[in-house]
Amino acid sequence: MQKETLIQLTSTALLSSLLLVGCGNSNTADRQEGNGSRMGQNSGNNAEGEGSNIPYLRDNHANYSQHGTANVTPAPTKDAAKMSIDWTISGKTEENAEKLASHIAFMEARLKEDKNPRAFDKLFLMEAYMKYNGFYTTNIERSGTNVVVSKKANTACAYEVISAHSDVVSGDFFAQGEIMNDHSSDAEKILASSACNDVRTSVENYISQRQETRGGK
Ligand code: HEM
Repeated sequence: MQKETLIQLTSTALLSSLLLVGCGNSNTADRQEGNGSRMGQNSGNNAEGEGSNIPYLRDNHANYSQHGTANVTPAPTKDAAKMSIDWTISGKTEENAEKLASHIAFMEARLKEDKNPRAFDKLFLMEAYMKYNGFYTTNIERSGTNVVVSKKANTACAYEVISAHSDVVSGDFFAQGEIMNDHSSDAEKILASSACNDVRTSVENYISQRQETRGGK
């Protein structure tokens, strides 16, 4: 891939740029996404709020393609032995790429802050747990209309979680602009597998403390 101006987005740089440009999100959009207001322990969470670019990505999902192809839906390259997931995604415009890269960096920053985007969905809760506890890393680069994302797990359980999440991003989000499905049953299967023996109790506690009713409490 051509590397004209390769920009590595750090969470810090991203958050400051988001403050400057805003992101076209809205409370209405948040409600449509099943987020709603955050009360109780998640008060002020705003994990899917301004800066997430989710409405933009949903509306523009068909503008993204697998790098080097015209109309192929983006899908990750998975390497189970290395426990890594790599994406190279092309937008039609630099704005497409910038909004996508900003979304991912915004979400990564939220997870690192111990926030829970999509707190009704156990798969997203499990991913938040894995990120916050350092069980995988995320790297994001944007170059022109391209976005390269690399996620690397350091446990088999975390790998299963980021792998399942990437299937949702490809099959639901990019392919259909569908953001309403609940993937909790996929998370339950992963959690029941032997790969997650070491963290099962801890994850179950995390989920029971964090899970919210869809649409907020
Ligand atoms: C329900 C709305 C959404 C939520 C709550 C959400 C949340 C997240 C979260 C938590 C991450 C992981 C960040 C990390 O692991 O460091 C992520 C990554 C990502 N999101 Fe979203 N997202 C949503 C919608 C979308 C849509 C509509 C698109 C594109 C059309 C999209 C594309 C991506 C991509 C490409 C990644 C990085 C790849 C990956 O994590 O496997 N997301 N998102």
